[in-house]
Amino acid sequence: MQIAIMGGTGQLGRATIAKLIPLHGAENIIAVTRSPSRAADLKAQGVQVRAGDYSDQASLKAAYQGVDTVHLIPTKSMPRERVQEVQNAIDAAKEAGVRRLVHVGIVGTDVRNGFVIMPYLLYAESAIVTSGMAWTLLRNAYYAEPVADWLPEILRMGTIPYPFGAGSHAWATRDDMARAAAAVLASTEHEGEVLNLTGPAAHSVAELCQIVTRVTGKQITHREATMDDYIQACLVDGESEAFARLLGTLYLPVQAGLTSFASADIETLTGRAPESIEHFLTRSWKATQGDH
Ligand SMILES: NC(=O)c1ccc[n+]([C@@H]2O[C@H](COP(=O)([O-])OP(=O)(O)OC[C@H]3O[C@@H](n4cnc5c(N)ncnc54)[C@H](OP(=O)(O)O)[C@@H]3O)[C@@H](O)[C@H]2O)c1
Repeated sequence: MQIAIMGGTGQLGRATIAKLIPLHGAENIIAVTRSPSRAADLKAQGVQVRAGDYSDQASLKAAYQGVDTVHLIPTKSMPRERVQEVQNAIDAAKEAGVRRLVHVGIVGTDVRNGFVIMPYLLYAESAIVTSGMAWTLLRNAYYAEPVADWLPEILRMGTIPYPFGAGSHAWATRDDMARAAAAVLASTEHEGEVLNLTGPAAHSVAELCQIVTRVTGKQITHREATMDDYIQACLVDGESEAFARLLGTLYLPVQAGLTSFASADIETLTGRAPESIEHFLTRSWKATQGDH
């Protein structure tokens, strides 16, 4: 059974391929990229590499020849472009005789969700479900890695300006979500399922402040942050205001309570509980302090 990974050269795609190789064999995995020359390291591991561009349906049809399952890790383009990209992938998969699609989305997908990418996610998930092919929908939690990357700035600010309101979030590591995706891809048991890949517990920002205080030994104080506080913090971090405003919409579903839960799906899929945000931040913090 050949599995094609869209976005296979990206951070999530590479992590997923690394977890899938021991379960399914490198020779049965195809990394699809716009630039096969950039995937020489994957090729060296025995993974097949094929050219394919989400915006070029014919290239995808060629890349999907002989493929059973296409794993759809979306690009980072805006929703209007992404809708066309996923439709190209669905049409190409149908034409190539693909049997199953596995899509990577985001927790809290719902018509009431104000995240700027939501129109894409609502379209993609329903287009996949109605495509006539078998499907599994993965909904990933917000990645824990950006929280770790932000630690130096959090220490400088002395607070965490995520505008969560009364909401909470169960961050998960990229590796845990990749492990769960690999388990889904290597099996046919999860067809027709919507799976939430979250960390083991949802935390408020007040709780995250306590966690960061324990992890770093520096006092981080919880202060209720508005969307503008968050945007100001992003500007200090060097983001453009337009990008910060788009990024800020990621917290609207948190404020609405749409992400205030933890799911057991990663443990059920893989037999191993996902890493807690506190454990991950401790590991990351120690690594940056040179204490291994
Ligand atoms: N939940 C969260 O907190 C969170 C955090 C970060 C990212 N994400 C999402 O996770 C997904 C992957 O993120 P990432 O960090 O792995 O991204 P990344 O490292 O930037 O990789 C992007 C991938 O997309 C591929 N790609 C881009 N445009 C393409 C096109 N037109 N046709 C085919 N492939 C194309 C690239 O392949 P080539 O360049 O080799 O063609 C590359 O493999 C994205 O959808 C992103 O929005 C979610």
